[in-house]
Amino acid sequence: MIVARTIAEVRSFRREVGAASVGFVPTMGYFHEGHLELMRRSRAENERTVVSLYVNPLQFAPHEDLAAYPRDFERDRSLAEGVGVDLLFAPDDDEMYPPALRPKEAAGERLQATVVRVEGLNSVLEGRSRPTHFDGVATVVLKLFHIVSPDRAYFGQKDYQQALLVRRMVADLDLPVDVRVVPTVREPDGLAMSSRNVYLTPEERAQATVLHRALRSAVAAIAAGERDAAAVARLLRETIASEPLARLDYAEVVDAETLSPLPRLAGRVLLAVAARFGRARLIDNEVVAVPGGPGA
Ligand code: PAF
Repeated sequence: MIVARTIAEVRSFRREVGAASVGFVPTMGYFHEGHLELMRRSRAENERTVVSLYVNPLQFAPHEDLAAYPRDFERDRSLAEGVGVDLLFAPDDDEMYPPALRPKEAAGERLQATVVRVEGLNSVLEGRSRPTHFDGVATVVLKLFHIVSPDRAYFGQKDYQQALLVRRMVADLDLPVDVRVVPTVREPDGLAMSSRNVYLTPEERAQATVLHRALRSAVAAIAAGERDAAAVARLLRETIASEPLARLDYAEVVDAETLSPLPRLAGRVLLAVAARFGRARLIDNEVVAVPGGPGA
């Protein structure tokens, strides 16, 4: 496996690969089974697989966990190699956001002047709690797509809104990339795998399974005929509130394509939850095809 630190190295690999298909998995590292599953999918569906490992400062607000974000390059390198990744791109901040290009402004430092904003999808759910997050994600993903030139790119369903937003950006900007979404990988007790799970104390870890339990109860209620979105959202909220260490951020029931609120459930519906357990802010979701609706 090649470890590339510079954009020039990735471009030269891409040129050498020529017409062979390239799958791409963008990550922030600290790999778990969820990441490895994305890499395996890419390996199965492409002749070459490129993984990026970059904790992108542009998508963290100043009060968020950028400095604390878990990192273990050697472990990640050997896991990626074990899965058969061809190239691991692990740039530093100066490579991704060259200091010479950073705007010189009196009020606060910005990493670059150009920002990609996917309007609408960036301001609901996660975007309401993290208003600048998706501009940072869209900007770095577009940069990475330009660097890697993949045929296919792989995103996890746990970050459903991120995947939807990337798909929208790809469509709006006519990028020749097929965005594929891979089901969430879970621990045996249902907790969605996340690099941020390492922040959990044993007590918080035990209670964090409530996110998946709440989603399963909501899916069961819908299967039993519930069609009132407010009632399903209430069930999500009440189930999460039953664990004393959970601090709910949101529990919403929205249209799975537009992320807009739905009074009555119909078609493809997204159940999305976010809550804090101590230092960890965790998200999870389920997509349900409601019988009788257009996506059913
Ligand atoms: O999902 C992530 O790990 C990040 O948001 C991504 C897509 C690698 C962009 O930094």
